[in-house]
Amino acid sequence: MIHILAVESSCDDTSAAVVKDGILLSNVTANQTIHEKYGGVVPELASRAHQANIVPVVDAALHEAGVSLSSIDAFAFTRGPGLLGSLLVGVSFAKGFALGRDIPLIEVNHLHGHIAALFLRKKGEQTSLPQFPFLTLLVSGGHTQIIRSKDFFDREILGETIDDAAGEAFDKTAKILGLPYPGGPLIDQYARRGRAIYTFPKPRVGDMSFSFSGLKTSILYFIRDSLKQNPNFIKENLYDICASVQKVIVDILTEKFLYAAKKTGIRELALAGGVSANSGLRERLQIEAQKHNFRLHIPPISYSTDNAAMIAIAGYHKFLRKEFSDQSVTAEARLQTN
Ligand code: KG4
Ligand code: ZN
Repeated sequence: MIHILAVESSCDDTSAAVVKDGILLSNVTANQTIHEKYGGVVPELASRAHQANIVPVVDAALHEAGVSLSSIDAFAFTRGPGLLGSLLVGVSFAKGFALGRDIPLIEVNHLHGHIAALFLRKKGEQTSLPQFPFLTLLVSGGHTQIIRSKDFFDREILGETIDDAAGEAFDKTAKILGLPYPGGPLIDQYARRGRAIYTFPKPRVGDMSFSFSGLKTSILYFIRDSLKQNPNFIKENLYDICASVQKVIVDILTEKFLYAAKKTGIRELALAGGVSANSGLRERLQIEAQKHNFRLHIPPISYSTDNAAMIAIAGYHKFLRKEFSDQSVTAEARLQTN
């Protein structure tokens, strides 16, 4: 019996989870609401909140799993990429814990964690696992990538954004509209009540690359010009604006992902990262998958946004391969995918 305890603290969520023999026992996350009023994550406030939250969150994860400290076989943690001050809290905690208990330390790349979330199962859950090779559209607040996974540990980035991430496109639009951070979930919610009646130009970037900064600028100009005509434009048309913005982001992501599937001939597709919680993106990909006969895998929303369960399952697979880190391991804000 192998128990892995994991922490994730790369951005503004403090999370801890326990996995037993590859099965998820608990996943506890403390969200930081302090950033809402600043319109984005304030790194220093994030690291302080992680420090305050990490012990109670780990404690709650152990309690929920019904597992004692002494039965933990290894400690997994997010090494990067992310905010350095946030990562440092998790990395230091993991090192102290592993040293104190004399158990192996397992570093996990946050992006690998998002893909590993596709393999998360609770006891008795029977949902189908992705078959290798598969393509993942990894869409989060910091990344937008199409990744080919040949096996659990062999990954290749086929394309990525040349500027903003898809999550930033949502969050920056929300900021323009005066909505709190993070705006993605709110835009999703409002979009469901609106009609996509405004159109925005799609970027012209080659092959499997993405770009969202031009879109952000055209949204900014559109809102600015519309407000000149009608100072209540946002208030009166919020749902339609959100539906229109969501549609163009979903179109951009879907078209590139389908192109990648066609180009590689891979029919096994997966969605990962915080933006995969978007209902418009989920629905659209489900429709396209049915139409083109692809198998589409989407993790439950609680494993799409940042969480420690995904770090624990990635850590479990590394444990089986005895891929351990030593006490000299450091947090890496810019850790690459592979
Ligand atoms: O993976 P994640 O939790 O953190 C990062 O690693 O970045 O992703 C957070 C991002 C934020 O940009 C947030 O606005 C976006 O995911 N997001 C959404 C939705 N839920 C979260 N974007 C659109 N629709 C959603 N429902
Ligand atoms: Zn993430």
